[in-house]
Amino acid sequence: MALSADYWAKIDPDSVPEIVSPIPGPTSEELNRRGGAHMIGYSSQVRLCPVAFESGHGVTLTDVDGNRYIDFSSGIYVTTLGHCHPKVSEAVADAARTLMNAHDFNTPVKVELLEKLAEVQPWDLTGMQLYDSGTTAVEAGLRVCRAATGKTEFISCFMDFHGKTGHAVSLGRMDPVSGPGRTQGFYLVPRPDPYRPTFTGPNGEIDTDAYLDFYAEFIDNATTGQVAAFVLEPIQGWAGSILPPDDFFPRLREFCDEREILLMADEVLTSMARTGKYFCMEHWDTAPDVVTIGKGFGNGFPVTAMLVSERYKESIERISASTSYGGNPMACAAALASIEAIEEEGLLDHALELGEFMLQEMRAIRDRHQIVGDVRGVGCLLGIELVKDRETREPFEEAGRMVYRRAFEKGLAWVPAWHILRMSPPIVMQQEVAAKGLAIIEEAIDEVERELGY
Ligand SMILES: Cc1ncc(COP(=O)(O)O)c(C=O)c1O
Repeated sequence: MALSADYWAKIDPDSVPEIVSPIPGPTSEELNRRGGAHMIGYSSQVRLCPVAFESGHGVTLTDVDGNRYIDFSSGIYVTTLGHCHPKVSEAVADAARTLMNAHDFNTPVKVELLEKLAEVQPWDLTGMQLYDSGTTAVEAGLRVCRAATGKTEFISCFMDFHGKTGHAVSLGRMDPVSGPGRTQGFYLVPRPDPYRPTFTGPNGEIDTDAYLDFYAEFIDNATTGQVAAFVLEPIQGWAGSILPPDDFFPRLREFCDEREILLMADEVLTSMARTGKYFCMEHWDTAPDVVTIGKGFGNGFPVTAMLVSERYKESIERISASTSYGGNPMACAAALASIEAIEEEGLLDHALELGEFMLQEMRAIRDRHQIVGDVRGVGCLLGIELVKDRETREPFEEAGRMVYRRAFEKGLAWVPAWHILRMSPPIVMQQEVAAKGLAIIEEAIDEVERELGY
C-alpha cells in the first residue's frame, strides 16, 4: 500500500543524505569526549562510527554537526514507525501531562491497550503483562513456562540473543564475562540456518528433520527430561537476520506438542509490523504458547509485554508478575498509538511491499558483487552477509566493518554484526529513499572490494 502524497514522513529523496561536516564532526567529538569520560561500554554500532545524534524525523536522523542520514537502523529496531511519529509523540506528551505512574492499577489507556493487543494477536494469547524492557519480559516468560509446566529447563539456539540479565543471558551465546556459569538447566542447540546448515540432505539442502532428530536425542541425553520450553527468536536478529526454513516452526510446534514442551517465541525484535505482521510467527502460521514483544511496540518509548495463551494464562498469577514501570500510562499511550497508526496507515502492507522491493534490489547487488554471499529478510528486517569466497563461505569480518563505516560516512545510519550488515529501516520509508540507502551500500561494497583486491 502506497503512502499518501501528504504522508508526514515523506521526504524529497534528493534531499538526503546531506553531509556537511566530517563524520564524526567536531561537536560529536566533543560530546564523545565528555560522555566517554563517564559512560563506558558503547556498542560496536557506536564505536565504529561515533557520531552524536541531535534529532530524528521520520526516516532521517541528524547529528550534532548537521549531517543528515537516511536511517536504516530505527535506533536498534525500535522506532519502527519512524522517529517522532506525530500520533505517538502526542499520545506520550498527553499522558505525561495527565498521569505518569499508577503502579499496576488499571487506567483507561492501559485497558484500551490490552484490548487492542488482544484484538490484533491472531491466536489465543489472552493472558498479558506489561514491562519496560525486552529482557524483563523474557524473564517473566521463562517464569510462566515453569509455572505452567512444573518443569525447569530451557532449550534455545546457538547465536540467540534474549537480553542481558541472568536467565536471559543463559539463553544466548556466552562470552567469558557472562559465562562460563550458564545457569543450570539452560541448553543451546544448533538452529537451521539455510545459508550455513549444520545438517543437510543428500543434495546439500537443509534437512529440518535432522535438526529435530538431534533435538530429540539431545533431550534424552543431555537434559534431565524436565524441559519447560523451547525459547526462540522467530528470526535471529543479533546473529544477523537469520531466517529459518519455512517448515522449521510448524515442525517444531509438533515436536513440542508431542513432548509436552511449551514453545516460547521471543518476538521482542520481530513483532509489531517489523516483518509486515504484528507477530513474525504469523509468517509460518505457528501459534506459540508464550510470546514476548518490545522494541517497536511503543515506537521508542520503553514498553514491552509478555503474552500467554488462554490455556496457561492463570500461571501469570503465580510469578509475581508486576513491576514499577510496567504498564505506566505513558508507555500504554505510546503502544496504543503505535498500533492505531499501523492500522490507520496500512503499515503492515507497506512494510511487506517495501521489504520485497529492498530484497529484490539486494539480490541484484549480490549478483554484482562477489563478496556478497547471501541476502535475506522479510518485511523491513533484512541482512547482507559478506564472505571472502562464495564457495567456502568464509565470513569476511574486515569487509563487514569497512562497508559499515564507509556507508555510514556517506550518510547511512545502520547496524553492523561482524561480517553481516543488518538493516531495519522505519517501515514508513518511501521506496525511493530505500533505494538511495541501498545505492550507498553498493557504493561502499564496491569501494571495499576494490581496496581489498577483489
Ligand atoms: C530477541 C530479543 N530479545 C530480548 C532483547 C532484550 O531487549 P531489551 O534490550 O529491551 O532488554 C533483545 C534486544 O535486542 C532482542 O533482540
